[in-house]
Amino acid sequence: DRSLLGLKELGRDEIESILDRAAHWEHHATKIDPVLQGKFVANMFFENSTRTRFSFEVAEKRLGAEVLNFSAAVSSVQKGESIYDTVRTLESMGIDAGVIRLKPIGVLAELAAKINVPLINAGDGNNEHPTQALLDLYTMRKQFGELRGLTVSIVGDILHSRVARSNLYALRKFGANVQFCAPASMAAPELDAPLVTMEEALRADVIMMLRVQLERHEAGMMSTPEAYREQYGLTVDRASRIAPHAIIMHPAPINRNVEIDDELVEHGQSRIFPQMQNGVPIRMAVIERALT
Ligand code: CP
Repeated sequence: DRSLLGLKELGRDEIESILDRAAHWEHHATKIDPVLQGKFVANMFFENSTRTRFSFEVAEKRLGAEVLNFSAAVSSVQKGESIYDTVRTLESMGIDAGVIRLKPIGVLAELAAKINVPLINAGDGNNEHPTQALLDLYTMRKQFGELRGLTVSIVGDILHSRVARSNLYALRKFGANVQFCAPASMAAPELDAPLVTMEEALRADVIMMLRVQLERHEAGMMSTPEAYREQYGLTVDRASRIAPHAIIMHPAPINRNVEIDDELVEHGQSRIFPQMQNGVPIRMAVIERALT
């Protein structure tokens, strides 16, 4: 199956081969290598995006594919057309693969079963964001050489985070120790990862901060941004206590001075912009896998 719906069901060897292929593309001599010339890829975003949408587009163009960009906001979704009818419409026009981001949870697998071209999950509700976790693993592997034995603290709004879930599923396959740090209102106990205090979280090799997803919150989940920063934010003071070898990550977009202080975003130990850079070769590897 050339689709990529999530990392929970993807084997460790498959993940490793995507990471290895991304390393090939990262160091590729030419910006465009048209191995996918003549293939049509549709980027179908039913929820907003900057990084994922544009890095898929850059990846597709670097591989020479023809790119169609679908945005729900300016489509017949506004007239009530369903996700299935939209994807079937693009499929009937001859796309060879689709990249899809969805708000609803639990519909992607059902959709993929009815569609004949490979689908790549660009984020579905709070379920999975596999290409984000792949670029996160790639960033960690590049930093530390291997993932086995790494301690990774994922801090913040775990409840709403598809990034936390995909990272947890994938990192465990490689023998990394994943721990969560979150207020009770943003925890996800069903994920069965150790819950640690903020001070314990700071002792990890990787401190991955999550965006507080205000758009998914119900009333009362966060008192004030200031109180959240005080308890769960990576402040300059807290960052001064992380290990010299440790790295700071964040999938972005960032709420500056809420989950992470402004001064830390481009700090020497931050890998936030390198994560975005790594997103391109990772998505090249994933698109190539879907189409060859
Ligand atoms: N990290 C991430 O998925 O960002 P976007 O929502 O901008 O794609």
